[in-house]
Amino acid sequence: MRLFENKRVEYEEFSLGRGQCSVRAALLCDLHFPRQCADVSAILKEMECRDVDVAFIAGDLVWRRADLGSCGAREFLGELCSLMPVFFSEGNHEARHKDADKISDFVRSCGAHDVTGVCVPVRIGGADLLIAGDTEKRGSPRFKGAGVKILLAHHPERAVSHAKILCPDYIFSGHAHGGQFRIFGRGVYAPDQGLFPKYTSGLYPIAEGTDLIVSRGIGRSRFPFRFNDPPHIPIVTVLV
Ligand SMILES: [Fe+2]
Repeated sequence: MRLFENKRVEYEEFSLGRGQCSVRAALLCDLHFPRQCADVSAILKEMECRDVDVAFIAGDLVWRRADLGSCGAREFLGELCSLMPVFFSEGNHEARHKDADKISDFVRSCGAHDVTGVCVPVRIGGADLLIAGDTEKRGSPRFKGAGVKILLAHHPERAVSHAKILCPDYIFSGHAHGGQFRIFGRGVYAPDQGLFPKYTSGLYPIAEGTDLIVSRGIGRSRFPFRFNDPPHIPIVTVLV
C-alpha cells in the first residue's frame, strides 16, 4: 500500500535561479547505511537516467553504529562517484559515530569530497560554485570567492540562522525524515523541530536570496516505519 510504502523513492524536480548554465544537483540525505530502506542500485540508475551532474550528501550517510567496512556505504558511494562528483558534509550520525575520526578518510577513499567545515570552489557544467559544509559542533565556514554559494547543512532548523550569517544562495538539508508521518502535506514529528515541524520536505524560500531544499531522506530512523512519507530525492536544476 502506497501510504506505508517505504521503498519506492520519490524524485522531486525543482528549477531555481536564472542564467544560461544549468547544473543538475541531486540531494541524497539520511541514507543511514545499513538501514537504508530504498533500493540503492535503482537510485544509481535513476541518477544516470535523469542526467544528474553532481550529488550532495548532506549528512547521515551512515547510521551511528554502522560498521564502515560492511554497511554498504563504500560500494554505493564508490559507484556514485564513478558517475559524478559527490560532495559530502557530516550529520549527527557521523559526528556521534564510534569511528567519527575515520569518517572523512572513509568518504574521501570512496572518491567523494568531504566539505565538512570547509568551503570548496568548483566548476561544474560551466558554472562556478562554492560548496561549503556545516558541522555539528564547529559551525559553518564562511564563503570565500566568487560563485553560486551552496551550503550543505544537515539541520534544516538552522537554515534561518545560516541565511542571516552566511547569505548562501541555496541550503541543502535533511534530518527531518519528512516528519515521519505525513498528514495533509505536513510532517508530524522531526528531531530537533518537535511536533508539526516547519521544514520537512521540498523547497522553502527562507530569506531574500536564499532557498532551502529539504530531503525527506532515504533511510530508516529509530521509528520502524514511515506513513505517507516515501523516501525522497530532490533534484534541483540550478540556473547560473
Ligand atoms: Fe540527522
